[in-house]
Amino acid sequence: MQTLMRRIQQRKAVVGIIGMGYVGLPLAHTFRESGFPVLGFDIDPAKVKALTAGLDAVLISTNHSSYDYAWIVQHAPLVIDARNACVAVKEGRDKVVKA
Ligand SMILES: NC(=O)c1ccc[n+]([C@@H]2O[C@H](COP(=O)([O-])OP(=O)(O)OC[C@H]3O[C@@H](n4cnc5c(N)ncnc54)[C@H](O)[C@@H]3O)[C@@H](O)[C@H]2O)c1
Repeated sequence: MQTLMRRIQQRKAVVGIIGMGYVGLPLAHTFRESGFPVLGFDIDPAKVKALTAGLDAVLISTNHSSYDYAWIVQHAPLVIDARNACVAVKEGRDKVVKA
């Protein structure tokens, strides 16, 4: 608990928000403005596409069958794969960095 409190005070705690809708998106923005690293998740491909269009990189922090990692690799300029989620992705491997 103390470790978490310290990470929050230092703005190092990563905030994950599931659902980038009316609640999640402004919430993500508010956390970002406060200095926290934020990861947003959504199952709506159109929303993910719109939100990642202006990004420099996508950080993958989960490996779950509900996500289309081939699609993410195809559309992201750079993918930082912390969960080996893109291991089966064939196209665009030069854009994937394992972390
Ligand atoms: N909008 C409000 O005023 C309000 C107030 C109180 C509580 N809530 C609650 O907050 C939650 C979100 O509400 P909202 O208004 O932002 O809804 P919203 O429809 O605007 O956004 C929800 C988002 O979650 C995504 N989503 C759905 N299932 C998902 C999953 N399994 N994984 C990842 N993403 C997923 C959808 O694609 C959508 O983009 C709801 O549970 C709602 O009841 C909303």
